[in-house]
This record gives sequence, C-alpha cells and structure tokens, in this order.
Amino acid sequence: MSETILSVRGLSARIAGQQVVEDVSFDVPDRGVTALLGRNGVGKTSTVKAILGLIERQGTVEFGGERIDKEPTFTIVQRGVGYVPEDREVFSGLTVAENLRLAERGGAVHRERVAALFPDLEARASQLAGTLSGGQQQMVSLARALLNENRLLLVDEPTKGLAPLIVADVAAALAAAAKLAPILLVEQNLQVVRQLASTVVVLEGGRVIHTGSAQALLDDSDLVTSLLGVHGAKSEADS
Ligand SMILES: Nc1ncnc2c1ncn2[C@@H]1O[C@H](COP(=O)(O)OP(=O)(O)OP(=O)(O)O)[C@@H](O)[C@H]1O
Ligand SMILES: [Mg+2]
Repeated sequence: MSETILSVRGLSARIAGQQVVEDVSFDVPDRGVTALLGRNGVGKTSTVKAILGLIERQGTVEFGGERIDKEPTFTIVQRGVGYVPEDREVFSGLTVAENLRLAERGGAVHRERVAALFPDLEARASQLAGTLSGGQQQMVSLARALLNENRLLLVDEPTKGLAPLIVADVAAALAAAAKLAPILLVEQNLQVVRQLASTVVVLEGGRVIHTGSAQALLDDSDLVTSLLGVHGAKSEADS
C-alpha cells in the first residue's frame, strides 16, 4: 500500500471575490499519477495554485505529514514540490540552457537525468525558448521540475493545445517523471489519463464531485459523460 504524500482537507479559495475552490478534500498517494479532472473553468488550476499558496486559501494541506497551508510558495517549493504551470511559462527571451539554469534550486541538481530524459533539449541548449514548438516548451517546463529533488510534481494541463503525436511524447515524458516522483496531473485528454493515472479526483463548480479509480471511471462512459461532459476516452482522442 502506498502512503499519502499530499493531503488536502476543506481547501477553499477566492479569486476576485468569487469562490473558485470550495471545501475541496482529497489525497495524493506517494507514487504514480493522480489525475485532477473536470470541465473548463471548474477550478482545477485554482486548486493547484491554492495548494502552492499562489492564491489566498483556507483549509488544511499536509505535505509529507507537515502542514504547508500557512506557508509562502517559495517555502513549499523548497520542501520539494515541483510545479509545471498551465501554459508552460518558459522565459521566451532566454535559451533552453538558461531556462534550466534558472530553475536550479540548490541542493541536488539532476542535470544528467534531465539530459537523458530530454535529449532534444540538450541539442537545443542554445536555442531561444520562445522559438521552440509548444511541445518542446512543455518539455522545458517539465525538465525544470525534474532538475530538482522533488517529492511531488503538480502538472497543469501539459498536453493542452498540442498535436496528437506530441501529446504522446509528453505522455511518455510524464510516465518517466512519475517513476521519479508522484504527480498530481490536471489533464483533459482522457487517453492520457487512462495511460498514466491510477486515481482520479473530479471537480465541478469548485467542489469535488467524484474520487476513485481512474480505470473504473474511464470504463464507465455514462459516468464520464455525466462528470466530464465528454463521451469517453475514444472520442476525446479524436478531438
Ligand atoms: N485571474 C482571474 N480573475 C477572475 N476570475 C478568474 C481568474 N482565474 C480564474 N478565474 C475564474 O475561476 C474559476 C476557476 O478557474 P480555473 O482556472 O481554476 O479553472 P480550470 O478548471 O483550471 O479551467 P481550465 O479548464 O479552463 O483550465 C473560473 O470560473 C474562472 O473564470
Ligand atoms: Mg486550468
């Protein structure tokens, strides 16, 4: 049995006076991929940001058994939480190598591991990140999180807007990353969820409406339709 690396209890957050995360509770086991799912605008990104303290939050968040819900983001990150934000957020005017160098936190830095996982980035070390494709930028963003000794990765919609072939590359990189650290993965592509995730947490209107096994959800197309408003993993893959 796996232990819990992240425990979220009664987490709430507001943005611009609007309640975007409401009494959210779930656990992330200390291995594998936990998928955070839900339709557009239900509060997935806000939940991740609230865990990281990037937006003001209330409730209890325990990481490795210790409370982090009153801590500033940099302290949480220093504890070993890697963040791969929605829209990648690479520094376009800096090279790939500079983007990676900036991400180094001190302590153990796994340059060889990143070089082995992302040979294409090695080859493009001196290329400006802004001239990379979306998929390559996503690899930079993931590589930044894998450079450091993290005990948990929060990865927000890594395959968004990418062509199917590139989605497969990113999914493979995530599978490799999941062997190094457990991942809480926000993902709308249900093929990718099926490939990677063991557990799912589904949000609706800022609240958790379902938790359970990924396979059990994805094998139940009626449940997928009612919770996510899409028609199962197969049709999602065609979109
Ligand atoms: N900066 C902001 N200002 C105002 N409202 C915001 C802001 N960011 C998010 N919201 C609102 O908060 C709610 C939750 O947004 P959030 O980005 O967390 O959802 P999401 O599930 O990640 O959506 P998506 O699938 O589009 O990424 C939405 O109603 C959104 O409109
Ligand atoms: Mg989002």
